Amino acid sequence: MKPANVGLLGLGTVGGGTVNVLARNGEEISRRAGRAVRIAHAAVRDVAKPRICDTSGIALTTDPVDVVRNDGVDIVVELIGGTELAYELVSEAIAQGKHVVTANKALIALHGNEVFAAARAKGVMVAFEAAVAGGIPIIKAIREGLAGNRIEWLAGIINGTANFILSEMRDKSRTFDDVLAEAQALGFAEADPAFDVQGIDAAHKLAILGSVAFGKPLDFDALYVEGITAITPLDITFAEQLGYRIKHLGLARRTGEGVEMRVHPTLIPERRLLANVNGVMNAVLVKGDAVGATLHYGAGAGAEATASAVIADLVDVVRALSTAPGNRVPHLAFQAEQMADVPVVPMAQTLTAYYLRMQADDRPGVLAEVASILASNGISIEAVVQKEAKAGASQVPLIMLTHPVREGQMDDALARIEASKHISGAVMRLRVEALDGD
Ligand code: HSE
Repeated sequence: MKPANVGLLGLGTVGGGTVNVLARNGEEISRRAGRAVRIAHAAVRDVAKPRICDTSGIALTTDPVDVVRNDGVDIVVELIGGTELAYELVSEAIAQGKHVVTANKALIALHGNEVFAAARAKGVMVAFEAAVAGGIPIIKAIREGLAGNRIEWLAGIINGTANFILSEMRDKSRTFDDVLAEAQALGFAEADPAFDVQGIDAAHKLAILGSVAFGKPLDFDALYVEGITAITPLDITFAEQLGYRIKHLGLARRTGEGVEMRVHPTLIPERRLLANVNGVMNAVLVKGDAVGATLHYGAGAGAEATASAVIADLVDVVRALSTAPGNRVPHLAFQAEQMADVPVVPMAQTLTAYYLRMQADDRPGVLAEVASILASNGISIEAVVQKEAKAGASQVPLIMLTHPVREGQMDDALARIEASKHISGAVMRLRVEALDGD
C-alpha cells in the first residue's frame, strides 16, 4: 500500500525525535498502521542548522506554507509551538483537506473549538496526544480506555519544570532560580519559562484534560491559575513536617454546581503515589466512577518521549484514513453535538482545605484571636504548629491546616486576619487536597 506521507512543521527537539523514532521503529510502526509512515517534507527555520536526526530523504523548506499546501502530504504534524502562526498553518492544512497531528497545548487550549469545528466541516482528523503530559497516553486513556466511566475528578502533575523545581528545592535545598536555570539548560522549560512557573503551561494542559473528561468545550479563560513563584523553602519544610508534599497540580472536579478547573500549588499527603512523582516526571490521577482511581505516569517532555505520542497519533490517523468521518473517535471524546457547556465553578465557591502560614506576635491571645476569626467564618482547624521564636525575635511563624471550606469564606477570614495588628504581612495560603480516590 502507498505510504502515508507526513509533512513536519518544525524539526527541533520533538521533530528530530519523531524522525529518529520513525527511522528506528519504522517497520513495526508500519505493521501497526497498515502502511508505511514516511516523513516527506519538513519546514525549518534554518536549512543548514545541524540536527539530532538524519534528514536525507526529507525535502526541507524554510516556508511552512510549502508543506501545508504540498499535494503529496497527507498528514501535517505541527511542532512549531506558539499560537498565531501555528493556528494559521493548521487552519490552512485543514482547508487543504489534510489531517493534523499537533503537540501544541496552547493552540488546542485557546483555539481548539475552532480548529475542531473546521476539521469536522472538512472531514479531517486533528490529533493532539503529545500536547498533554508528553509521552503519557492520557488523552487516549480518558477518551477511549475510560469511556465507560463518568469521570469524577482528575489531578495531574502536568508541568515537568515546576515539578523539577519543587522536587529539587525539597530534596537538595536548592534555590528556585538555580533549579529553573538547570531546567532551561536541560530543554524542558518553555521558550518563555514564565509559562512553566506561573502555571500557564499546566493550565493549557488542564483545559484540554477537563474538556476530554467532562465533554465540555474548551474554555481556557475560565480556569483559575496560580504558579509556584511564591513557594518558599519554609513552606516546603512545614508541609513535610505535617506529612504533606507541595506539588503543582492541575485539578478538574465535577461538583453539584458545575466543574472546578484550577491550577495551583497543592499540599497532598506524602503517602499518595502522586506525592512521590519527582523531578521532571508527569503523572495524572483520574477517578472514574466504575474503575476507581487510575494513575498514569511517565515522561512529560523530551525528544523521544514526546515523539512517542506524536507517532501514536500518526498511527491512529493512518488507521482511520479510510473510516467515514462520523465513525472516528471524536476530538474531545464526546460526539460534537453532545458536548455540554457545564459551567466552571467560580473560585470563591470551590471547596478545599487550606495550609496557612503567618507571622504572629509571640504574646498571649494571638492564637485565640486567629482561631476565633476562622471559627466565625465557619472554618474548622485541623492542626496547628507554632514554632518557638528565634532568639531576640518578637514574632513566630504560625502554621495551620483547616478542614475543607469554601474559598470565599477563607478569603474573608484572611482579610480579617491580615488586618490584625498582631499579624505581619500577608498570610501564605496553599490549598490542601486529600486525593483519596474514595
Ligand atoms: N515546559 C513543559 C514542561 C514541556 O516543563 O512540562 C512539556 O509540555
